[in-house]
Amino acid sequence: MEEKLSALYAAERARLHAAASRGRTGEYEAPVFGEGPLHPRLMLLGEAPGAEETRLGRPFVGKAGKNLNMLLALAGITRTCVYVTNAVKFRPTNVKAQSISNRPPSPTELAEGLPTLKDELRLVNPSVVATLGNTPLKALCLLGGRETLPIGSVHGRMLKFMIDGMPLCVFPLYHPASVIYNRSLLPLLEEDVTRLGSMLNEIKEA
Ligand code: URA
Repeated sequence: MEEKLSALYAAERARLHAAASRGRTGEYEAPVFGEGPLHPRLMLLGEAPGAEETRLGRPFVGKAGKNLNMLLALAGITRTCVYVTNAVKFRPTNVKAQSISNRPPSPTELAEGLPTLKDELRLVNPSVVATLGNTPLKALCLLGGRETLPIGSVHGRMLKFMIDGMPLCVFPLYHPASVIYNRSLLPLLEEDVTRLGSMLNEIKEA
C-alpha cells in the first residue's frame, strides 16, 4: 500500500509540474504530500500548504501547525498516530512586485486535485477524516456529489459520506489558523476537538 501511495504522489507531482507551465501562480514545483501511518483512526485534511510547509516539505509545520499541535494535545490525540494531509498539495500564491502571499486554491485548482485526494483516501483508509476549514469540507462534498455544507452549521458533528462506494466518517472542524484572525472561535474549536478525541477513544475501545 505504501508503494501505491508513493506512486500516487509521484503522479501528482508530475501533474503539477505540467500545470506549472500553464501560467498559474503557486509553488507547483514544490508540492507537500501527506505523512503518517496508514489505516489510522484519524486523518486530518487541511486546505493547502503554506510557506513554511513548502520550505520543509511537510504539512502543518508553520503557525497553523503549532495551533493544531496544541489542539491535538488538548484532546489527547498523538500527532504521530494521525495521517496529516491537504486537499491541494501545493502552495497557491499571489505574486506582487515585492511580495508573495498565500491565497485560497481556485475552484479549478481544487477540482483538479480531487482524483488524487480520492485515491489517497482509499489508500490511507482512515476511520475518521477531520476536515480543517471550509476548503477540505468542500472537496469532500464535491467527491461525495453533495451540496457544499457550511462549516458554521456542521462543525463538531460526525457526518456520513459515501464517495464512489467508499463510506467515510467526516468530522468538520474550523481551521486551526482561523483563531489567529478570530479569537472568538477558539472555545468552539477546543470543544469540537475534545469531542473528536472522545469519539476516537470509543472507536479504539470498540
Ligand atoms: N494550512 C493548511 O491548510 N495546511 C497546511 O499544511 C498548513 C497550513
